[in-house]
Amino acid sequence: MKALVVGGGGREHALAWGLARSPSVTQVVAAPGNPGVEAVAACEPLDRALGRAEDFDLAVIGPEAPLVDGLADDLRARGVPTFGPGADGARLEGSKAWMKEVLAAAGVPTARHGAFAEPDLDAALAFLDTLSGLYVVKTDGLAAGKGVVVTESVAEARDAVRHYLSGEAFGDAGRTCVVEEGLTGPELSLLVLCDGSTTGVPLEPAQDFKRVGDGDTGPNTGGMGAYSPVPIADPDVVDAVMAGAVEPTLIELARRGIEYRGVLYAGLMLTPDGPKVLEYNVRFGDPECQVVIPRLETDLATHCLEAATGRLVAPVRFAADACVTVVLASEGYPSSPRTGDPVDGLAEAEALDGVTVFHAGTARVPGGPADRVVTAGGRVLDVTAVGPTVAAARARAYDAARRISWPGIQYRTDIAERAAVEVP
Ligand code: AMP
Ligand code: GLY
Repeated sequence: MKALVVGGGGREHALAWGLARSPSVTQVVAAPGNPGVEAVAACEPLDRALGRAEDFDLAVIGPEAPLVDGLADDLRARGVPTFGPGADGARLEGSKAWMKEVLAAAGVPTARHGAFAEPDLDAALAFLDTLSGLYVVKTDGLAAGKGVVVTESVAEARDAVRHYLSGEAFGDAGRTCVVEEGLTGPELSLLVLCDGSTTGVPLEPAQDFKRVGDGDTGPNTGGMGAYSPVPIADPDVVDAVMAGAVEPTLIELARRGIEYRGVLYAGLMLTPDGPKVLEYNVRFGDPECQVVIPRLETDLATHCLEAATGRLVAPVRFAADACVTVVLASEGYPSSPRTGDPVDGLAEAEALDGVTVFHAGTARVPGGPADRVVTAGGRVLDVTAVGPTVAAARARAYDAARRISWPGIQYRTDIAERAAVEVP
């Protein structure tokens, strides 16, 4: 089959890489892709690929924005089997206020919250006063993982509410915001394949590192690293999340006439009172995808096609190997990333055993040699390694990361550190 991957970041590189390994796939096209993706797929502009969408037997949509905008609906209407929910289901990510309403209707545990629009500033501030300890303010709409403030300072939370509702911080995405109680506990990302029915097939859990700095300090980012498997996420935890969160949500969606096909990503906090949903995303996590796909032993293309066509039947199996990815980011990320810095050491890193470098934000130097890239985004490279244990995969990933450099490069040095100790 011919497969199309929509998107051009590290997640899409991992998806294209996984599809290219499939015996049932004859060609992978990524649109727009990126210089790293070119090693495993043909890259072409999105408009051109969408213009000939009927040429593909499977379309996999990577990022949330086109899903929220209804790209999966358009492609399905043209007869292209498409992995990704329609605009109706994608609203789970496109509107946090709506997502919370669905969770409430489905009886799914989540943080206590209120949703407030621009004229409700006083009500939002009054709601903040009913919380204590840890305050959370989120944009209702999409903000590339950056629209969340988690703070112990009520003054900072109040400022965030004012800033969001005025539209200064995130434009219209923030003019409605969700204010909620802070939860504590380890976080977990569970990606679940869905075929439009009310049961899903969970993939192996992963853990993501959201803050920019070591020790979970600094602002939230799109994700600075990830690993899988996760020692705390035993099969009982996965069963509890499927039964207590994912399946009730799929049932509630079905009750509203929404057939959800693609991946449902549950962002969870394992609180002392049990798992609670922090958020749903309607696509693979980035960078969680980069550590889950390399561990998949069964055929990614088959799973995506089955989800797209409404019948997940093939067993999903994972290798016992662990996988760790470390995100190399540019100077100034996440607030004001600098781009255009030449990347050194890539070939040396990629030559190491067990290492794959997924490109997240790179560009070719115009007129330069084919193997030269420059930074072209905040998150630049996802240095990914597999190994028999988390500790071994982590050591390989960091060995590779240290060989790569550009002016102002930054990355966390503690990705999967604790898990590596727990599962040495
Ligand atoms: P979200 O985009 O909703 O997942 O939020 C991004 C990150 O903010 C999460 O991964 C958590 O680290 C943090 N976060 C979100 N909601 C809460 C909450 N209610 N309590 C504590 N931390 C949270
Ligand atoms: N890694 C977090 C996300 O994909 O939203």
